[in-house]
Amino acid sequence: MSQSRKLYIKTYGCQMNVYDSERMAEALGGQGYTQTDTPDDADMIVLNTCHIREKAAEKVYSELGRFRQLKADKPDLKIGVAGCVAQAEGEEIMRRQPLVDLVVGPQSYHRLPALEARARAGEKALDTDFPEEAKFDDLPARPKATRGPTAFLTVQEGCDKFCAFCVVPYTRGAEVSRPAARVLDEARGLVERGVREITLLGQNVNAYHGHAGGLAGLVRDLAAIDGLERIRYTTSHPNDMDDALIAAHGEIGKLMPYLHLPVQAGSDRILKAMNRKHTAESYLRLIERIRAERPDILLSGDFIVGFPGETEEDFQATLDLVAEVEYGQCYSFKYSPRPGTPAAEKAHVDEATKDDRLQRLQALLKSQQHAVQDRMVGREVGVLFEKAGREPGQMVGKSEYLHSVFVDAPDARVGDLVPVTVTASAPNSLAGRLRSAA
Ligand code: 5AD
Ligand code: SF4
Repeated sequence: MSQSRKLYIKTYGCQMNVYDSERMAEALGGQGYTQTDTPDDADMIVLNTCHIREKAAEKVYSELGRFRQLKADKPDLKIGVAGCVAQAEGEEIMRRQPLVDLVVGPQSYHRLPALEARARAGEKALDTDFPEEAKFDDLPARPKATRGPTAFLTVQEGCDKFCAFCVVPYTRGAEVSRPAARVLDEARGLVERGVREITLLGQNVNAYHGHAGGLAGLVRDLAAIDGLERIRYTTSHPNDMDDALIAAHGEIGKLMPYLHLPVQAGSDRILKAMNRKHTAESYLRLIERIRAERPDILLSGDFIVGFPGETEEDFQATLDLVAEVEYGQCYSFKYSPRPGTPAAEKAHVDEATKDDRLQRLQALLKSQQHAVQDRMVGREVGVLFEKAGREPGQMVGKSEYLHSVFVDAPDARVGDLVPVTVTASAPNSLAGRLRSAA
């Protein structure tokens, strides 16, 4: 197609949405679209939405409302809603908000070119199927243009765990793994384009079964790719941390010493009500085994406070668990009832108690994060430069432990992976100097 059109995608939520947005942009590339970073000159706007916590749909409606004038000025402008809110409430969005021309769920975006054509022809186009055909097989080959040194790569989607609070099993569907050969091909293609670090994505990435050796087997094969220097994966469920994957953390040098392993709560009573199928004790023993393989691993987690029925004593058990683990990074949320999930039917903890607990938990998590960061000072880390810093000659990149590190490195380029001595710890980043610099 010769005609050039502009596409603006706004991405909410998790890293998988970031990956999906890239793939949607590539899929529409075949229709003559190039990306723009402002809605103002766009011919098509796509909101790639997240449904995980409260007010998701409200946010989408208010964002859509802002495009009213744009659409009045440019009647050809097409507006689409993608992602998990589209999956959960797409039909209603289309009914309630006439500005919307197109709705596409996370499992159908390989059909975006056809949907776009229908929208262009003046139809309302909606697809929230969980199609039989494999989405990734139907997407166009990824383009060859050079790109930044880090990339996400989705290897697994969906979830069969049905934690009582979570919409993911409903919006993303059942667990599906991509075959290892496809993943390896995509990874090689990314490396050819300049990528040196790949983060494997999945809602339950460690339940990956597209390789006979599970996720550990996939990581091992990826580690054999020349030019790929770093491998990460996220997000994992404690019950899927098998022996091979734990061992991989000790054996595979390219697998980075950072693990996001959400526990959600520290009280067994609440864990049971959450349908987590593990206990606080089994989680702590698991962490012990992982640390035995890789003592310097930095642990990260997710927590929910104020789950229905959570007492002060239950909450205290969460604080106790956190105190025992010592996390380097954490995400914590007030429980928010999600329509259609079992927990939403239960009696809720009042908002003030939730606020209070969140503050107390976050204070503890923050102090741990700072302590872990402060202990990095004086240590040597590898930093993969991702962009120039604000100061002249400064570069910013990530350490093995996913800390942002600012380094004075006037001769360095984006994509360089260099040894750095950490010199200082700031609230959310580290400063370092090149080991070669005196
Ligand atoms: N309320 C609050 N937090 C939630 N999460 C998932 N569902 C909910 C909910 N209903 C959090 C969990 C999960 C992270 C991605 O979001 O901690 O691990
Ligand atoms: Fe949601 Fe639980 Fe599945 Fe994670 S494991 S996506 S929290 S249902």
